[in-house]
Amino acid sequence: MSDAPIGIFDSGVGGLTVERAIRRRLPAESTVYLGDTARVPYGPKSPETVRRYAREAAAFLLSCDVKLIVIACNTATARAADDVAARVATPVVGVIEPGSREAVRRSRTGRIGVIGTRGTIESGCYERLIKELRPEAMVVATPCPLFVSLVEEGWLDGEVPRLTARRYLEPLLQRDIDTLVLGCTHYPLLEPMLSDVARGVELIDSAEATAAAVEGRLGELGLRSTTDAPTSRYYVTDDTERFRQVAELFLGGRVGSLERVSLSSSA
Ligand code: DGL
Repeated sequence: MSDAPIGIFDSGVGGLTVERAIRRRLPAESTVYLGDTARVPYGPKSPETVRRYAREAAAFLLSCDVKLIVIACNTATARAADDVAARVATPVVGVIEPGSREAVRRSRTGRIGVIGTRGTIESGCYERLIKELRPEAMVVATPCPLFVSLVEEGWLDGEVPRLTARRYLEPLLQRDIDTLVLGCTHYPLLEPMLSDVARGVELIDSAEATAAAVEGRLGELGLRSTTDAPTSRYYVTDDTERFRQVAELFLGGRVGSLERVSLSSSA
């Protein structure tokens, strides 16, 4: 079982930031990545719909005999991680708890901003967890829905991304945040531009923190891989070539084994 792959899913390509962090930190682990590209974005969808999608994604990963499921999508973690974890025997790791812990650890003043999709922000998940971990924290959260489209277009910097970032971040900066959680898989790609717009604010990318959480969980369960020939497989629910193009932007490298699959209602 310990040489079985880690299953990772996201609504699309964004979760590759998490997949890459896992592969870097745990080079002996095999991975199976599922991007539900036929149904992206999850951000504006209702909680029930996201829960259904997440259940189907988890079922697909289980059919690949994974030893652990990583929900690399913030929206799916916010809306569906508890539901998925209650239904499957395989351990489940989401991105919100590791990101929240990291924010609490790194913030000096306890004034923490959170940005994400509408679904993630409406769920109040980050605020709840951060407050649980640090009750005196001041948390200010705002959705930044246009960021996902900018990243998908490859507009990572320039006049339009900067103007958009200034409009979204102004209310948070006015509240003197010292830490900003990038609570969406796509936002780490905007990090160089965001760190300039939010100068002096510590940016938290939950990908690294999630990879550390995966390492910890596998260690606790005695499931660390011992193979010296790990594999990485990729599945999508829509066109593979579009995924390949955007994935190369995310990963900065080639995507190897890539196949299109149907989840029950994505066909
Ligand atoms: N993966 C989503 C997230 O991290 C962003 C894209 C979407 O809306 O599906 O929330």
